Amino acid sequence: MSRRARIIASLVGALTLLGLHLSGDILQPRSASHARDITLEPEFDWYALEPSERIQWTPCFSGQKCARLLLPLDYGTPDGPTTAIALRMIPASSKEEYKGTILINPGGPGGSGTDLVARAGQNISRIVGDSFDILGFDPRGIGASTPVASCFETDSQRKLWALQEGHRLLNVTDDTLAIRLAREKAVAQRCDEKIGGERGIGRFMSTPDVAKDMLEIVQQLGQEKLQYWGFSYGSILGQYFSAIYPDKVGRVIIDGVYDAHNYRAALWNTNLADVDTVMDSFFHFCHEAGPDKCSLWKPSAKEIRTSYFDLLHAVETEPIPVPLANPPLLITRKVLQSQLFRASYKPLLAFGIVADTIRAIEQRNQSALIELAPKIVDPVECKCTIPEPWRSDTEAFNAIACGDGDQHPYDPDTYAAYYKDLAAQSQLVAPLWGIHYLQCAEWRIRPKWRWTGPLEAKNTSHPLLLISPRYDPVCPLTDAKAVHERFGGSGLLVQNSYGHCSLSAPSLCTAKHVRAYMVNGTIPEAGTVCDPDELPFIGSVRDIRTMSAEDAELLEAVKGLSDVVPMFGAL
Ligand SMILES: *[C@@H]1O[C@H](CO)[C@@H](O)[C@H](O)[C@H]1NC(C)=O
Ligand SMILES: *[C@@H]1O[C@H](CO)[C@@H](O)[C@H](O)[C@H]1NC(C)=O
Ligand SMILES: *[C@@H]1O[C@H](CO)[C@@H](O)[C@H](O)[C@H]1NC(C)=O
Ligand SMILES: *[C@@H]1O[C@H](CO)[C@@H](O)[C@H](O)[C@H]1NC(C)=O
Ligand SMILES: *[C@@H]1O[C@H](CO)[C@@H](O)[C@H](O)[C@H]1NC(C)=O
Repeated sequence: MSRRARIIASLVGALTLLGLHLSGDILQPRSASHARDITLEPEFDWYALEPSERIQWTPCFSGQKCARLLLPLDYGTPDGPTTAIALRMIPASSKEEYKGTILINPGGPGGSGTDLVARAGQNISRIVGDSFDILGFDPRGIGASTPVASCFETDSQRKLWALQEGHRLLNVTDDTLAIRLAREKAVAQRCDEKIGGERGIGRFMSTPDVAKDMLEIVQQLGQEKLQYWGFSYGSILGQYFSAIYPDKVGRVIIDGVYDAHNYRAALWNTNLADVDTVMDSFFHFCHEAGPDKCSLWKPSAKEIRTSYFDLLHAVETEPIPVPLANPPLLITRKVLQSQLFRASYKPLLAFGIVADTIRAIEQRNQSALIELAPKIVDPVECKCTIPEPWRSDTEAFNAIACGDGDQHPYDPDTYAAYYKDLAAQSQLVAPLWGIHYLQCAEWRIRPKWRWTGPLEAKNTSHPLLLISPRYDPVCPLTDAKAVHERFGGSGLLVQNSYGHCSLSAPSLCTAKHVRAYMVNGTIPEAGTVCDPDELPFIGSVRDIRTMSAEDAELLEAVKGLSDVVPMFGAL
């Protein structure tokens, strides 16, 4: 509590009030990465694209290029079966100063890189400059790459299965634990049947496999070294690549850094160090912003916090039905707890929705709740027609994260101790995050190629650049610092913001460091801290009118990224 008080004090002290607008947006659903936002794009039939062993670009999506590259399913038997990797690229428009291709990865694990190009490629291109191609690829088993790591026949099946999870939060002292374990066992057994087996894709999508794919792509493009910007799990991919191929590092940015040691131990217990601080910032920013900008405003942050927790407690025994929402909805403690947790990934876009939800519940305002319903829970639509198969969800998270990780079969005492430690970090998030351990405990498929070598490099052919928000809900600065120590010469840029990855808060300063690193290889000086240019509830902290046209344009480009924050592990 005293730690919390100190953080509050420093936070409130640091705030300045120059607010402009507050952008509103929906909370990303769990299976967010695909589906949304890009529906306005012209149709493109990925499966009609002939896969080839050399990259053969086909024009797609007005001015972009797409390809499907055949690579060995098993690098141990290069002449054996193949996997087709989907590539989507925004070509550099400045050919005179051409600086090659930057690969991007949206995290997950399980996120689609071609989808990231659709949603943010132009903005990323604007940030790094038009002398780079921006290339997104769908890692093995994901998106438009084939075969797909799906253990369900259809997306509807997967959603129906997810709905059976119900409204109770995981609690290690009651039957929810046994039910959760049984659910994970069911998924694991089903996946073993569907994507396991001698040549099943589930065995060939480990992170070292994907790192090798990146090297193949880069070399086919005529580059010796990798240029890369990876977010969230993409930081794991970046660490693996740089440790396995230290002499192939051209420019590697890892942003929202999870410590690959903890990841490979399949522990998931360093993530939550700062999550309570991020969730607490909700109350402080709300208070600081004032009653016009935060619907939950009260004379002190503490009062806002207290009323939030009172409400959480109240719905536990008295859930709120929203009978006229379509479909009808029940607001339970689990629903609200998940909403706040997921909002902590992208406070700028989501804190306002949380405030409006709480306000509407307090006022018993059904019409407001009906309006908010699709932003409170991911609405389930059971379309019986199969959408484009490359848009459907997968079980890639388990296949990759559990496959890369050490095996730890479930043991009740070990888990009880583990959970206790997690709950000490965050009472609110432990029941949500504590599931990853169980997922991997039940997972059966083991990858053919699992990297057990060092996850560090004394020297890389160019130093890595690490970027970390000061308070990231699932990739804390302490993890970034640990990784920083392991990669000789690497730089660490801290962005003084709340949320997941630098994307969650626009910062002109960060954008300029990214560009200088990509263009010139410049590592920021040790101790460099960038401030964000926008705060939750409060809005912009900088007057665009006093900026150069170039800066204003750059800031506009960075703002567009807050919508693509990876929902790393959020359930
Ligand atoms: C978990 O369940 C036990 C036994 O039913 C109960 O006493 C306890 O309050 C629950 N814990 C939480 C955090 O809800
Ligand atoms: C309830 O919410 C609706 C829609 O947001 C709003 O127009 C209305 O004023 C609210 N009613 C009350 C009593 O606050
Ligand atoms: C580190 O890598 C660079 C670039 O390959 C090389 O010039 C340098 O000699 C290496 N330093 C060490 C200590 O190996
Ligand atoms: C790269 O370095 C050159 C020469 O020092 C400088 O003029 C230019 O502004 C730098 N570019 C970036 C993006 O930092
Ligand atoms: C990036 O996102 C912004 C939203 O802030 C959008 O207006 C802009 O057109 C996008 N594209 C580029 C190239 O900046």
